[in-house]
Amino acid sequence: MTGATTRRRLKVLLPILGALALLAPLVFMWQASLVPKRFTVQEMGYPDYGVGPGAHGPGSGHGPGAAGSVSVSSLTADPARPADKEYDLTAAAATLDIGGRAVPGFTLNGSSPGPTIEAEVGDLVEVRLRNESVPEGVALHWHGIDVPNAMDGVAGVTQDAVMVGAEFRYRFVVDRVGTYWYHSHQLSHEQVIGGLLGALVVQPKRGPVGNAVEVVAVAHTYAGVKTLNGQPGDQRVAARPGQSVRVRLINTDNGPIEVWPSGEYRALAIDGTDVHEPGVVRDYSVTVTAGGRVDLGLTMPADGSPLRVQVSKGTAVILGTGDLPAPPQPVEPLNLLAYGTPRPEGLGFDPNQPDRTFEYSIGRRPGFVRGWPGLWWSINGHTFPNVPMFMVREGDVVRMHIDDNSGEVHPMHLHGHHAVVLAHNGVRATGSPWWVDSLNVRDGETYDIAFVADNPGVWMDHCHNLEHAADGMVAHLMYEGVTTPYTIGRGTPNHPE
Ligand code: C2O
Ligand code: CU
Repeated sequence: MTGATTRRRLKVLLPILGALALLAPLVFMWQASLVPKRFTVQEMGYPDYGVGPGAHGPGSGHGPGAAGSVSVSSLTADPARPADKEYDLTAAAATLDIGGRAVPGFTLNGSSPGPTIEAEVGDLVEVRLRNESVPEGVALHWHGIDVPNAMDGVAGVTQDAVMVGAEFRYRFVVDRVGTYWYHSHQLSHEQVIGGLLGALVVQPKRGPVGNAVEVVAVAHTYAGVKTLNGQPGDQRVAARPGQSVRVRLINTDNGPIEVWPSGEYRALAIDGTDVHEPGVVRDYSVTVTAGGRVDLGLTMPADGSPLRVQVSKGTAVILGTGDLPAPPQPVEPLNLLAYGTPRPEGLGFDPNQPDRTFEYSIGRRPGFVRGWPGLWWSINGHTFPNVPMFMVREGDVVRMHIDDNSGEVHPMHLHGHHAVVLAHNGVRATGSPWWVDSLNVRDGETYDIAFVADNPGVWMDHCHNLEHAADGMVAHLMYEGVTTPYTIGRGTPNHPE
């Protein structure tokens, strides 16, 4: 071979080798982003045991599949206990009438929102879900209720999607009073946005106290139209002078909602948990994160004039008779970190002695998800499905540090648990314990939260902007030794996001 031939060959080969050197990592990244046709979430990503005294890896027979492992499907309410409240819910694909406009969506028992489920604390609630006509199947998740894992309603994680003609029976005890909601967790980004949802209210034993007016306001945007309880515009509620009113506001949308009354009010509860000694405030809005709830307490003016609770700019609850214009939006939201007073009995656990601490760092980076190139959400630097699996043991005191450097707000929702906010942007909480199941994490912010791992299972810990979830902003909290028999992926009927 002459030197000239070698040079000619190299001239051809070098660019090819160069291209390969560039392409190989891309091909590798592309391939790593592919999702098997059928897989269990417990095989997804990598285990993250956190840091701290209890943060050891698998061992002592606790790993998934180890002897003595517990299946998600066995984690139910007492099967021998009769139900105190029974509901039949029939899901259907339907055309909704939103203020005279025909919008494709979904109904439960013929309406969207579906019926409000009402119970008293301690009740065992039984809901029989039947799918009449939702072609892709349905599942119901009880947002904010810490149900046993098999009842969590996440298609492909805690059950199979309920296909047309099939039924599923949910049974759970409601052990806290408060305002909650339910929604489909099958193709959530289509079904929840399309209205497959409803309110769930847990009253104290023997019903609401006194003669207070109770208002449930489900805020939802249907095809761009803002509504309360399925109706655009203002919602009228009768109330007498001097009467007290409790407005239970539920944000079922993908983004935060600001809520501001025209007069004085108290924020009585956040995400279903009562605030301890909530002070009377005015001229502050309350930020209700996507999926979150606030209960507002108001007293009707003695002079017979009405009150107005503005729910973002487009809708309002008007209490009493007569009209009043929309009050201007306050410049500042109520700081829940310093609202109310600490409970003398404390939190019931010591968040300063955690067994393990996790990072949940939200970012955005170029790469592939399910084979598609794009700028994708990342969790601790990883994109779906290669995200962390937060591993805990029952009884652990868990801390989580959340930060957001992704350029957008993310409503973070942990299933099956309530977490208490310890600090926001490094500023420690000084008010009432601020318990959340949904937390509004804005770009550039950090939160420190803590919870007790007291509800074994495999639990989603995801963004409740359901478009973000569908783009892979989904991780899970998994108890060691718990396994799921359900599968997700293109080769299954289950598509939880
Ligand atoms: Cu609301 Cu995952 O859910
Ligand atoms: Cu998000």
